Amino acid sequence: MAEVVIVGSVDAAGEVAADAIEQLVLRKPRAVLGLATGSTPLTTWRALAARNLDLSEVRGFALDEYVGLPAGHPESYRSVITREVVEPLGLTPSLVRVPADDGPIETAGVDYEAAIEEAGGIDLQILGIGRTGHIGFNEPGSSFASLTRMKTLTEQTRRDNARFFDSPEQVPLHCITQGLGTIMRARHLVLLAFGEAKASALAGAVEGPLTASLPGSVIQLHPQVTVIVDEAAASELVYADYYRYAWKNRLAWEQI
Ligand code: PGA
Repeated sequence: MAEVVIVGSVDAAGEVAADAIEQLVLRKPRAVLGLATGSTPLTTWRALAARNLDLSEVRGFALDEYVGLPAGHPESYRSVITREVVEPLGLTPSLVRVPADDGPIETAGVDYEAAIEEAGGIDLQILGIGRTGHIGFNEPGSSFASLTRMKTLTEQTRRDNARFFDSPEQVPLHCITQGLGTIMRARHLVLLAFGEAKASALAGAVEGPLTASLPGSVIQLHPQVTVIVDEAAASELVYADYYRYAWKNRLAWEQI
């Protein structure tokens, strides 16, 4: 079962996620991180940046990228990852990959999988969850075995992401995303969710039936998952009291 950590604020969640990354990097300076974009991981990056760790040897793989934006568009995930992760954390730009950033789109999925494998696999994957239950851009119906490939974004996701663009029509229709199978190969999943709008998807992912209709539910099959949520996102969890009790009584040697 996932370790579910219910915290009092989005900032506190960022500190817990940063603890997990810090513990990893201290024991493995060349760690491989799976990097998420969107609003959710921002406090994690901020908390990590404040710790002034040497992350210059860390390798990174973004979860996903829009397809169809002009190169250098400020909302392309390449630009977002550079601005919000690489620069503030002091990562080495050449060690950070984004799907389809190198070579033709037709073979980008296969190329990305090969690059992840060559790096030794992802040690820790940061994840958000969409209101559709997507992780990465794996929208409902995505196979639990899927690998990096192109997908069509749902209307809901395009509406949710319209806030980053001048108008909703500018949100691309297509994306390339690590698959659920790719995400499942990461050694540790850290999923963050905040706010009431995420409560239903989060409860479905953590406690609901396993179903491709709620792609995040695949995390129930993973042996090491940490779910970090605020009270609002936790509001539909049936076993919230147990998660609080387990976290409060965790043993000193237990790593996040
Ligand atoms: P958000 O998106 O962090 O911007 O809420 C999460 C997601 O859609 O996966």
